[in-house]
Amino acid sequence: MREELQKIAEEARERIADTSSTTEINQVRIELFGKKGTITQLSRRLKEFPPEERPLFGKLVNDLRQELTGVLEEREEAISRREKKIRLQEERIDVELPGRKPRRGRPHPLLMLIDEITGIFLGMGFDVAEGPEIEWDYYNFEALNIPPEHPAREMHDTLYITEKILLRTHTSPVQVRTMEELRPEPVRIIAPGRVYRRDALDATHSPCFYQIEGLAVDEGITFGDLKGILTVFARKIFGKDRVVRFRPSFFPFTEPSAEVDVSCGCQGAGCRVCKNTGWLEILGAGSVDPRVLAMAGYDPEKYSGFAFGMGVERIAMLRYGIPDIRYFYENDYRFLAQF
Ligand code: DAH
Repeated sequence: MREELQKIAEEARERIADTSSTTEINQVRIELFGKKGTITQLSRRLKEFPPEERPLFGKLVNDLRQELTGVLEEREEAISRREKKIRLQEERIDVELPGRKPRRGRPHPLLMLIDEITGIFLGMGFDVAEGPEIEWDYYNFEALNIPPEHPAREMHDTLYITEKILLRTHTSPVQVRTMEELRPEPVRIIAPGRVYRRDALDATHSPCFYQIEGLAVDEGITFGDLKGILTVFARKIFGKDRVVRFRPSFFPFTEPSAEVDVSCGCQGAGCRVCKNTGWLEILGAGSVDPRVLAMAGYDPEKYSGFAFGMGVERIAMLRYGIPDIRYFYENDYRFLAQF
């Protein structure tokens, strides 16, 4: 009997020593002490012995159970210590490793250009003015000498909110709002902002884009002042060797009106950007129509002024040779990161 017990003990110790994980330990615990476990089965054999031998057998089995329990617990502790050590090693963080740099945001190229253009005019004594994107028909059209039924309205595919309220189609209404606010003081402002047109998005059109408006009103302002200011502007944006050219044009709110071109960087050699013309059309401008001055409360006999308006996307596309306006709105980081 003793021999048999010794053999069982021997085998059990080996099984325990062979374990290498908590899962295996639990397995062995069931094998030894579970319902059908080796040691549990042993205790059941007590009845097989004559009564006088039972106390001895019982003691032997109990001692064995106690010993194996101890061995198992020791092993379990050793394993869990090792497992913990491994886990700690795996989870260790090297605080001296260089960090992963988050990609930094940056201003949008259009906003950067607006800032740059605004800065140029601030440097020439202009202030920044603003107006609402939801505008009265009166400011967007009528006060700019575009009465109802005027053919010029057809040039602006307008998004109406009500019969009298619309999304402004240009920044020119800020001219009128500013004059009403400042009269009879002289005016020298630029007004950047969003404008809206009922246009489908394609390579050169967007239903929403940016414009920058300029307006100067005072006694004795001439078309020559306009030319000087716009020449400075064009050279700061496109390069100091550029020249500007004024082509006669028509806008209801200026008289005379001009379309202004800047010479292309290809210097007349012909390129994709200027479509081989040597010139880039950058804005519309003119002397403020006396009727516009009068409607805003300035005496046209005493005051005169000039105005201009440009599309920011257009300036950016010409300056950087960007062929498609949609790049500005898609927010592909590979595009935006180039500016
Ligand atoms: N408002 C015009 C447009 O959106 C642009 C413009 C032309 C503005 C001539 C002006 C100007 O101030 O003088 O088409």
